Amino acid sequence: MDTSLFQLEGKSVLIVGGGQGVGESTAKLLARVGCRIAVVDVVQERADRVAAAVAELGQPATSIVGNVLEDGQAKDVVERAERELGGLDALVTTIGQASFNSILDMTPEQWDHDHRKNLRHFFFTAQAVARSLVSRGKSGSMVCISSVGGMQSTPNHASYGAAKAGLINVVRTMAVEWAPHNIRVNAIAPGSIATPRIPATQERVERTQQSLIPTKRLGTTDEIGKAALFLLSDLASYVTGHTLLVDGGWMAAYLLGIPHIPPAGILDATAGAIQPQ
Ligand SMILES: NC(=O)c1ccc[n+]([C@@H]2O[C@H](COP(=O)([O-])OP(=O)(O)OC[C@H]3O[C@@H](n4cnc5c(N)ncnc54)[C@H](O)[C@@H]3O)[C@@H](O)[C@H]2O)c1
Repeated sequence: MDTSLFQLEGKSVLIVGGGQGVGESTAKLLARVGCRIAVVDVVQERADRVAAAVAELGQPATSIVGNVLEDGQAKDVVERAERELGGLDALVTTIGQASFNSILDMTPEQWDHDHRKNLRHFFFTAQAVARSLVSRGKSGSMVCISSVGGMQSTPNHASYGAAKAGLINVVRTMAVEWAPHNIRVNAIAPGSIATPRIPATQERVERTQQSLIPTKRLGTTDEIGKAALFLLSDLASYVTGHTLLVDGGWMAAYLLGIPHIPPAGILDATAGAIQPQ
């Protein structure tokens, strides 16, 4: 493959949540097109393992243990990555998680959890990277992971949907504020994907096959990583403030007027099924 099309050779990328799942796939794909990678994860063993895999692909890599949900850590992680890699050009953040409850039963703690875990950390990590890029007079690119849940109603996980919708909005505002500095900011909205945390259990696969998702299969972490590679690369040089659906056509079916209305209950993330309350 002619990787020069991507124009990513020698670029330094910070991947927050890079220790498994979407972050791991993205780290390896970026390494294959010549990126230097800083893998940030709250679990040391995961960060070390992915950094070693990147090094095996022949690219400089560093592992950083940090919890970007805590105030001040995002800035700290960015500074450490810059010291290790000699500056940063790009950011990918992947961490996110949902809690499940009806709006009637939602607690302030659940609401805050979902906003911290999905939205707040991206805002402050992106701010830290942008401040550094602007002060050095460098261009850059950023990608975060939203969800189809940020684009449609999300019964029984309204706080997750609101936080993922917040990402879609904040990338637009960042894109506009930072365009004069040549910093592009985009999001990816995955549909249903198989990850180490939410694996492709038989029940989940069958449910997907019976669903209205046109491709009748779960997506893979590599398919999300490939979208991140595109958005970070020069192939997307005129793309900013955009949220790219990578959902096997789920939202197309939804927009055609075939809503997916799950029954009331708690969504069991592991099984990917609704358990009656
Ligand atoms: N699985 C799906 O069907 C689906 C659908 C839509 C969107 N998404 C989104 O995709 C994204 C990626 O999901 P995934 O399953 O690959 O992620 P994940 O939950 O496996 O997390 C990736 C890594 O982040 C690390 N991490 C967690 N909290 C951290 C913190 N505070 N600081 C630093 N590192 C931390 C974890 O240790 C893990 O190694 C999430 O934002 C998720 O909401 C998933």
